[in-house]
Amino acid sequence: PLPPAFKVPLPIPSVLAPTTPNRYEIHQREVTAEILPGVPTRLWTYNGTFPGPTIESRRGRPITVAHRNQLPVPTVVHLHGGRTPASSDGYPTDLVLPEGWDDMHEMHGMEGMSGTAMSDPRAVTSKLTREYTFPLDQRPTLLWYHDHRMDFTAPAIWRGLAGMHLIRDDEEDALGLPSGPRELPLMIADRAFADDGSLAYPAIDPTLKERPGVIDKYVAGVLGDVILVNGAPWPIHEADAARYRLRLLNASNARHYDLEAVRDDGRRLDLIQIGADQGLLQTPVKHRNLPLAPAERYDVILDFAEVPIGSRVRIINRLGTGRTKEVMAFHVVRTATDTSRVPEVLSRDLPEWHRSDAVRVRDFSFRAGQLGDGHGWLIGGKPFAPSRTDVSTRLGDVEIWRLVADVHHPVHLHLVGFRILSRGGHDPLPHDAGLKDTVSLRPGESAELITRFDGYRGRYLFHCHNAEHEDMGMMANLEVT
Ligand code: C2O
Repeated sequence: PLPPAFKVPLPIPSVLAPTTPNRYEIHQREVTAEILPGVPTRLWTYNGTFPGPTIESRRGRPITVAHRNQLPVPTVVHLHGGRTPASSDGYPTDLVLPEGWDDMHEMHGMEGMSGTAMSDPRAVTSKLTREYTFPLDQRPTLLWYHDHRMDFTAPAIWRGLAGMHLIRDDEEDALGLPSGPRELPLMIADRAFADDGSLAYPAIDPTLKERPGVIDKYVAGVLGDVILVNGAPWPIHEADAARYRLRLLNASNARHYDLEAVRDDGRRLDLIQIGADQGLLQTPVKHRNLPLAPAERYDVILDFAEVPIGSRVRIINRLGTGRTKEVMAFHVVRTATDTSRVPEVLSRDLPEWHRSDAVRVRDFSFRAGQLGDGHGWLIGGKPFAPSRTDVSTRLGDVEIWRLVADVHHPVHLHLVGFRILSRGGHDPLPHDAGLKDTVSLRPGESAELITRFDGYRGRYLFHCHNAEHEDMGMMANLEVT
C-alpha cells in the first residue's frame, strides 16, 4: 500500500564537505534505505543517500571529485549542465570500475546495444578511482550529477545514482533572493516499488551487466506510480509565510510534469521563474503552471505571504492521474519577516546570439526506429555509435540546430548552453526564456536552437534525456575541434 500524501517531511540532501580544499570524495555503494515508511529498499547511491549529497561550489573555482565504485557494475559520472573538459565529462565508455575488478577481465560478455563499445577494449578507458575535474567557469545554476554508463544509464539513475550541484557567485548572492532555509533544492523523480520493497524496473537483465534495454512494453520510457521529492514520497515541508526559492529539477527517467501551486481554498499561486537550466533570466517571468521535462531545471520563487497560517499549498502535476497528480505540499505554519527581494533585473550576462552570427545550420530528427532486431530511438535515422563522429564543429563557432521530434523528446547538449529561437515555427514559449541545456520537444514539434561551441575541444554528446530513449540509441557524438 502506498503511503498517504503529505505526511513524510521533506528531506534536504546534506551538503558535501570537501576532504581538502576544493576536493571531494564520493563512494558509490549499495545501501538499504527507507523510502516508503517502514519498507526497506536497496539503492545504489553516492555516499549512501538518495539523492546523493549536494555539492556547493563557486563560479570559476575548480574542484576535483574523486569517485570510488563499490557497486557490482562499472559506472560513469556526468555533471549535467557543467562546462567540463571532455576527459571529465563522463563519456559513456569512460568507466569507473568496481573495486576488485581486474580491468577488462570481467567486461567480456558486456555487449553494448550497438555491439561495439564494450567489446572493443580500445573504446573503453577504465579506472578504479576516477578523478573528475570541474573548472566551473560558468554562470551560477543548479546542475546535477548522475550515472551515464553506455546503455545502462536509465536503470542506474532509477536505482539512485543522482545528486545535485549548486554553483553560486557573488553577484547572485548580492541580489537578495530568498536564501538559507528559504532556498530549497528539489529533485523530483518518480519510482515504482515491487511488493518486496525493491525498486521495480523492467530491465531485460536485472544484473545490469550484460544485456541492456527494457522489456518491450516500456520502450517509450519507464514511469513510476510514486512521486518522490528529494527521495521522499509526496513530502510536506513546514514553511514561513514568506518567499521561497525553489531550485526545481526533474530527475525522472521519462515522466513529464506541468507544475501548479494550489492553496487549500483552490486559489493558485504564481510561479515566478527567475532562472532556467543555465542560470538566471534577465528578468522574472510569471507562470500559472510550469512544464518540467526530464533533466530540466527551473529556478522559481513562490510567495506564501498571503497564504492563511495553518493551511497548505500543494504542488500538483497537471499531467498526472490519481496519485501521480500530487507532488508535494507546503504547510504554512508561521508568520515571519521577509527581507528577500526579487529584483526587476536579475542578470546582465545572458549570452545573446543572432541568426546572422551562425556559420551553419544543422537538422536533426528524433524518431523511433529499428535498433538491432528490436525497437529503438534514433537521431537522424541512426542509433548511437561511440566510434562515429556525428557532428564536428570548430571551437567558437555559432550554429543553429533545427530539431524535430515524433513523440516527446527532451533534447540535451553537453558542454554548452543554448537559446531557443523558435518552437513549431513560432516564437518560443514563456518558459523557454533564458539559457537552456535541455529543450523539451513536444510530440510532432520542431524547435530551433542557437549556441556558440566554446569552452573546450574534445568529444561530447547530445541526446534525448528520456533516459530509456537515451539507452536505446538516441544519442550522438559532438566533436569540438
Ligand atoms: Cu543529464 Cu548526457 O546527461
